Amino acid sequence: MKTAPSSSDARTAVALSGIEAAAEVTAEVARQMRESGVIPKLAVVLVGEDAASAVYVANKARQAERIGFASLQIRLPAQTSSAELSAVIQRLNADASVHGILVQLPLPPHLSAEAVACEIAPGKDVDGFHEVNVGRMTIRSTLAAFVPCTPLGCMHLIRRAIGHELKGLNAVVVGKSNIVGRPMATLLMHAECTVSVAHIHTRNIEQLCRTADILVVAAGSPGLVRGDWIKPGAVVIDVGINRIAGEAGAHRIAGDVAYDEAAEVASFITPVPGGVGPMTIAMLMKNTYAAALRAGAYASSTACRAAARE
Ligand code: GUN
Repeated sequence: MKTAPSSSDARTAVALSGIEAAAEVTAEVARQMRESGVIPKLAVVLVGEDAASAVYVANKARQAERIGFASLQIRLPAQTSSAELSAVIQRLNADASVHGILVQLPLPPHLSAEAVACEIAPGKDVDGFHEVNVGRMTIRSTLAAFVPCTPLGCMHLIRRAIGHELKGLNAVVVGKSNIVGRPMATLLMHAECTVSVAHIHTRNIEQLCRTADILVVAAGSPGLVRGDWIKPGAVVIDVGINRIAGEAGAHRIAGDVAYDEAAEVASFITPVPGGVGPMTIAMLMKNTYAAALRAGAYASSTACRAAARE
């Protein structure tokens, strides 16, 4: 656990490095792979030409290869029909050499992310977006579920900062997407936090955020959360990755939190970039390794269940 500055300091939050934490998680996955001899294979599907998605997909495939996974990238044109995408997913579902399947979001508008998620075999759904996995996670089923990678990464960062005992803390999640906000709120509830979810229609959002001991922001709105929205000593997790256009085609990446202001009030805060982003990829590696374990000889073993439920 890191030490936060004391209240007598001119407060500057500790930056929670996702790069460091992700390296620890992936090193542990690599160690487990060496011990078990299991080599997972991850298939990543990208539909269309979205520049940011292309970068994320390349990063995921690169990290998979770096850690020693087999990986497969499938790029499909933006006009791919739902039947064509479905056929690709069915082929991957049937391919026993593939353990994890991820279809990068957002999809072109004529394709439904929810429908596509439910085409993926639940045991290969390393994103945790299939309704079977969402259901199992939500009810804390004893059956192993895949948990979405970004919320899993946020929980890891929170616990790495302030420890595992989160019981009774006030948590506010800004954003209610299926990828981050909803599963994040569920995980915080599982940790016995008192959870509020704020969104575009929330009244007095600043006031609500000020009640948060843990504030997770996934709004997709650069600089939305200002320093005076933050409770002194809060843990602030910024999930936003906003590309801000600059001059001559250049761009910079900004989070959803006004970092410099927030860092004067919070005890811990994730930078953007270098905070939550690398954790999403690390958790994808962890989920994919769990999928490979489950698919293999260890399918019903306790070790496998523990890995998947952690
Ligand atoms: N787009 C943004 N985040 C994610 C993610 O975690 N998984 C997928 N498949 N697409 C995303």
